[in-house]
Formats: sequence, C-alpha cells, structure tokens
Amino acid sequence: MARVALVTGGTRGIGAAISKALKAAGYKVAANYGGNDAAAEKFKGETDIPVYKWDVSSFEACSEGIKKVEAELGPIDVLINNAGITRDTAFHKMTLEQWSAVINTNLGSLFNMTRPIIEGMRARKFGRIINISSINGQKGQFGQVNYSAAKAGDIGFTKALALETAKAGITVNVICPGYINTEMVQAVPKDVLEKSILPLIPVGRLGEPEEIARTVVFLAADEAGAITGSTLSVNGGQYMA
Ligand SMILES: NC(=O)c1ccc[n+]([C@@H]2O[C@H](COP(=O)([O-])OP(=O)(O)OC[C@H]3O[C@@H](n4cnc5c(N)ncnc54)[C@H](OP(=O)(O)O)[C@@H]3O)[C@@H](O)[C@H]2O)c1
Repeated sequence: MARVALVTGGTRGIGAAISKALKAAGYKVAANYGGNDAAAEKFKGETDIPVYKWDVSSFEACSEGIKKVEAELGPIDVLINNAGITRDTAFHKMTLEQWSAVINTNLGSLFNMTRPIIEGMRARKFGRIINISSINGQKGQFGQVNYSAAKAGDIGFTKALALETAKAGITVNVICPGYINTEMVQAVPKDVLEKSILPLIPVGRLGEPEEIARTVVFLAADEAGAITGSTLSVNGGQYMA
C-alpha cells in the first residue's frame, strides 16, 4: 500500500516541489499551508494533491490538522517539516514579534508537528522525518539572528530525535538548502542577488526547488533506513559544513 506523506508549507516554493516529487514517487501526499488560499487552490487544481490549511506555529492547530489528514489518507509515514518564514532585520532593531514569529514557525513547528505523529510511528515501527533547515542555520547570516537561531535549532532537534527513534525504525534527517529559486529569494532585490549572492555560489546559480525535492525522496525511501541524524547541504558548494 502507498505510504502517506505530509508536507508542511507544501503548496508553494520548495514544499510544492517536494509534494509533487513524493506523489510522482508513489506516495499518498497531503500538503499543508498557512494562509494563501489562492496559491493552495491553484496547486490543488494542478496536482490533485489534497491541501489542508492550518498554522504550524500552533500545537492545537497541528494536532487537529494531523487528525484530519490521518482520517482521510491514513496514518502518516513520512513527515516533511518544510513550512518557514523570514522576518529579517538587524538584531538591534528586531522586535519580540519578529523574533517569536520566526522561532515559532521555523522551530516550534517541529515540536508541534512531530509530537502528535511520533507515537504512531513508534507503534508501527516505521517513520521518516525530514526537516528543512537552511545554510543560514549552519553559518549564520547578517539580519537573520531569529532565522539562523531557529534553523540551527532544527539541526539540533534532528540529531537528538534521531538518537531517540533509531531503534523504532524511524529516521530523522535535515536538509540545509542554500539560495533556492523561490518567491522567498525572488523577493531579494535583483542587484543584491547578482552582485552579492550569486558570486558566492560556486556552481554560479540558484538551486532549484526540484533539487531539494530529489533529496527528500532519497531520504524518505524505505531503503534509506540507515541514513539518520544526517545534515545534507544542497547549496551549490557555497558552504561546506
Ligand atoms: N528559498 C530558499 O532559498 C530557502 C533557503 C533555505 C531554506 N529555505 C527553507 O525552505 C522552506 C521553504 O521555503 P520556500 O522558499 O519554499 O518558502 P515560500 O515559497 O515562502 O513558501 C512557504 C510555505 O510555507 C507555508 N507557511 C508559512 N508559514 C506557515 C504557517 N505558520 N503554517 C503553515 N504553513 C506556513 C506557506 O503557506 P502559504 O502559501 O499559505 O503562505 C508556504 O506554503 C522554509 O523552511 C525556508 O526557511 C528556503
């Protein structure tokens, strides 16, 4: 029977590519999103992948949403914690709201999503948890104290949980994308991109969402059971941790 995969932030950008790639690989996929109904409806129309709206920064919303997905598609075998936001500003200007929004959405969500799912995975002796961190969680980034802290937290979460779940057939891995060609990066001014970002990337281009999706499909496979606690960089050679 097809395994069930849930992708947070699965209707746009990197998440949409992950949802599509998992479907193409034979998974039954559910795509969560936060607020952009128009993008979610468009994605659903194009892919026939069911979409579910809830806020991953809320534990209650995640528990309810997961119950609904499991009732409709079956127990979740593969969880992709992909949803994320930025609220960039220099730390001395950062508000508590900017700090909390980024920490709760990019790091708190890993607890909110994984905690309700983990007991079922343990009972069934199978699970794949793949977290989407960032190069900026590995190396830090000017204007991103909140984001870098959250994304570094995703890496620590991955390693600790991988130890706890290894004997239960559950792998936990984290992918650190570099600059990927999505709306998040398209929002960067063109001259900043061309003068300050592209010259730092040895392959000389942005990564594509499909390149992250390919890495997810690799880690999600039944055959990938010995790959756990890994941090995979997909950054065009920009940073080698
Ligand atoms: N793009 C890059 O270069 C890059 C690099 C490194 C890491 N990343 C990481 O990769 C992940 C995906 O990034 P992206 O560039 O694809 O972002 P994106 O295009 O902005 O898409 C973000 C997705 O996350 C969802 N989302 C945001 N906040 C949410 C919330 N509170 N609850 C539920 N869903 C929420 C969005 O839903 P709506 O559509 O409803 O808004 C959307 O589906 C993020 O974790 C990001 O930090 C990206």
